[in-house]
Amino acid sequence: MDLSYSKDLLNKTNQLIQSYLEDVHTWQRKVTHYYQPQELKDLFDFTLWADQTSPEALLKDMERIAYFSVANQHPRFFSALWWGADIHWIVWERLTSVMSTTMYTYEIAPLFTLMEEYIFTKIAWLLDWNTHVGMMLPGGSHSNMYGLQLARYAKNKEIHSSWLYNKKRLIIYTSDQSHYSISKSIILMWLWSDNIITIPTNDVWEMYSKNLEEAIISTIQDWDIPFFINATSWTTVLWAYDPLKEIADIAQRYQIWLHVDAVWWWWVLLHKKLKHKMKGIERADSFARNPHKMMWTPLQCSIFMTTHEKIAHEANSLQSPYLFNEDKLYDSMYDTWDRYIQCGRKVDIVKLWLQRKALGDKKIARHIETAFDHAAYLTKRIDASENLLLVQDPDCLNVCFWYIPSSIHKKHLTHQDILKHKTYMHKLTAHIHGEILKTWEMMTMYTHTKSLPNFFRMVPISNNITKKDLDFVVEHIEKLWHKVHNQLNNK
Ligand SMILES: Cc1ncc(COP(=O)(O)O)c(C=O)c1O
Repeated sequence: MDLSYSKDLLNKTNQLIQSYLEDVHTWQRKVTHYYQPQELKDLFDFTLWADQTSPEALLKDMERIAYFSVANQHPRFFSALWWGADIHWIVWERLTSVMSTTMYTYEIAPLFTLMEEYIFTKIAWLLDWNTHVGMMLPGGSHSNMYGLQLARYAKNKEIHSSWLYNKKRLIIYTSDQSHYSISKSIILMWLWSDNIITIPTNDVWEMYSKNLEEAIISTIQDWDIPFFINATSWTTVLWAYDPLKEIADIAQRYQIWLHVDAVWWWWVLLHKKLKHKMKGIERADSFARNPHKMMWTPLQCSIFMTTHEKIAHEANSLQSPYLFNEDKLYDSMYDTWDRYIQCGRKVDIVKLWLQRKALGDKKIARHIETAFDHAAYLTKRIDASENLLLVQDPDCLNVCFWYIPSSIHKKHLTHQDILKHKTYMHKLTAHIHGEILKTWEMMTMYTHTKSLPNFFRMVPISNNITKKDLDFVVEHIEKLWHKVHNQLNNK
């Protein structure tokens, strides 16, 4: 390695990162510089050459990469369930990149292996679990898949050696508001769509436990095998909490693996008024939790934990001689690779450990409460606006709403009224969203669920949002609607 070249490049990149962060935080740059794909192909030179590129040219490229990418550090980035990254993680992410290590054995990552063990033990202690295994996975979807996979192995240990055809069907239960990763996982697991039963939700989008129990009884009557219940805390779009205590009772009654998709979990436990909603998670067989959602941890940082040690050690184990040695200097239980499907794995634990070290729970809790205050403020603003209508009164951070044109608007508008204009409303939200993107002024997302037409979903979690940014959301949408209205009328 050419040390003076590296030093120079590092210094210049540091300056670039610093000025990028300054620009974002002092409003010198927009949250996005959106271009259509063809425009972007023309604007950015993707060409790769056989010859080396000079540091100056590389820096120019980096500047342009920063310019054309979404500034999710920006206070008006409301689009995702995560936001930006705290400076501590930016620094640590760089340091772990320098080490460029993997986590498969103790000898390759001694300190990080123990760091994982420490964090997992702390979480297990919080749940009063006597036994536990934790894993760091590339996201919540993978964690849900591991939950399913371990549960299937727990039910049928022959899975490693025999084919499931012509055997009884294994049945999964999940709510109609749960994340799609449950359904996607079954594709990978050679299960079929009729292995999954979708349980309806009530008017606040929580799974009906009565329907869950009825579905389980009917599975048993059909001579199939109930093997997995997925409960969600909180759901992706409308932020519902499935009733964990009731569901845990049912899981226990019928001996079914209970997995809790609690990718937001930690946050609620730190929230004074909401933590009771998580009562029952300690009775889960496994759960998913994502510090990269809302905890300012750079993607990805995602934990899966189960209380079933033996199952977790066996379910993916092959004891391949490539990595497996019983005669090492240390206890081979410290080698984690055999529990995972992947081999190489990023060091994500440092980000989490450092978060606690640098900020402490108190500061994180304050941040959560501020985010909830912002959501409450935005809700109030929407409620007060003539043309905006909440999909549901949020008890959470997801604020979901429609823009309602005056022609449809009336007092006490209900979902039934909206459904009468479903096609128009569906298009309207999508069009307004497109116009928002084109202004580069803020980022939100839109979605639809059940029979409801497209609506906006905003998540005000940035730690440098001000009330002015939230006022702006309402004003901006109201302003853009006129433009969209003309476009739709001229079609
Ligand atoms: C409830 C829930 N579960 C799982 C996931 C998937 O997480 P990831 O994007 O990390 O795979 C999401 C993503 O938004 C989610 O909201």
